[in-house]
Amino acid sequence: MSRVAVLKGGPSLERQVSLRSGARVQDALERLGHEVVGIDVGPDLVARLRETRPDVAFVALHGRDGEDGTVQELLEVLGIPYTASGVSACMRCADKVLAKHAMRDAGLPTPHFYAFTQAAFKELGAADALEAIEERLEFPIVVKPSNQGSALGIRFARSAADVPAALVAAFSYGEKVLLERHVHGRELAVSVLGEEALPIVEAVPREEDFYDFAARYTIGRTTFVCPAELDEGVTARAQELALAVFRLLGCRGFARVDILLEESTGELQVLEANAIPGLTETSLLPQAAEAAGIGFDELIGRIVELAPALR
Ligand SMILES: Nc1ncnc2c1ncn2[C@@H]1O[C@H](COP(=O)(O)OP(=O)(O)O)[C@@H](O)[C@H]1O
Ligand SMILES: [Mg+2]
Repeated sequence: MSRVAVLKGGPSLERQVSLRSGARVQDALERLGHEVVGIDVGPDLVARLRETRPDVAFVALHGRDGEDGTVQELLEVLGIPYTASGVSACMRCADKVLAKHAMRDAGLPTPHFYAFTQAAFKELGAADALEAIEERLEFPIVVKPSNQGSALGIRFARSAADVPAALVAAFSYGEKVLLERHVHGRELAVSVLGEEALPIVEAVPREEDFYDFAARYTIGRTTFVCPAELDEGVTARAQELALAVFRLLGCRGFARVDILLEESTGELQVLEANAIPGLTETSLLPQAAEAAGIGFDELIGRIVELAPALR
């Protein structure tokens, strides 16, 4: 039994999801017999951690600060062991462009892309290169901020006329934006726990509203199937790929890798890795664990055990 500080909430756009993940994690930890202190992450974080003196911190934060290595850096400074990935892996996962470069360099499949900062458009005339980019990626092109999650700021541009507005939307979320080849196919989420890939979750849209993002992410418009109905070979390849990405980016404990299975080629393409995926009632990693016979409490217990002792 240990004293566990559950870090939740925080200032990111995914605050509400994090509060739900955190509350559920706290309940599980209490049932497991731990002494639990919930901390809503804000300007008093360091002071709260110093007074709480936890044996371990359970990081149930999503999005900026909590998932990008910032909170992890503070925990390192304070000498508090914590769950999930360390600083550098969090930084790589939170920045899709960094993660995609790492994957491409390592020969792991990720959709072709180009990425630019706002400064490149303002000061270096990057807009003049758009036509060349559009030719290489072919429409539709996916435009997204490098550093967001939960489909925020993502637009599908169907023609050159859609690109400027898509860029403006994406830049409102961050300084770096990527233009990515659109992959038409099935959407798979492969969760990793410890050294093991869990059963695959497939997100199946109910209607063919494939360009309509808001609709796709509205509750009830997407059905989740776990384990995904895939050939054994595809399942094994997707799980191996997820583990390869997990190791490449230096992840620890758990993570979720989002992969597309391209319809025309049958090939897998990795979109991103999430260093701290959701842990709510409807989140994908808990569903995957359940399908592997690992209940929520056991999952949370395992995640705490996987937190390294003090370095
Ligand atoms: N290149 C792409 N081709 C097709 N669909 C995409 C592509 N990129 C993103 N999407 C769609 O957008 C969703 C979110 O994209 P993702 O890159 O996982 O960002 P995040 O989950 O961080 O918002 C994906 O699950 C997928 O439905
Ligand atoms: Mg995703």
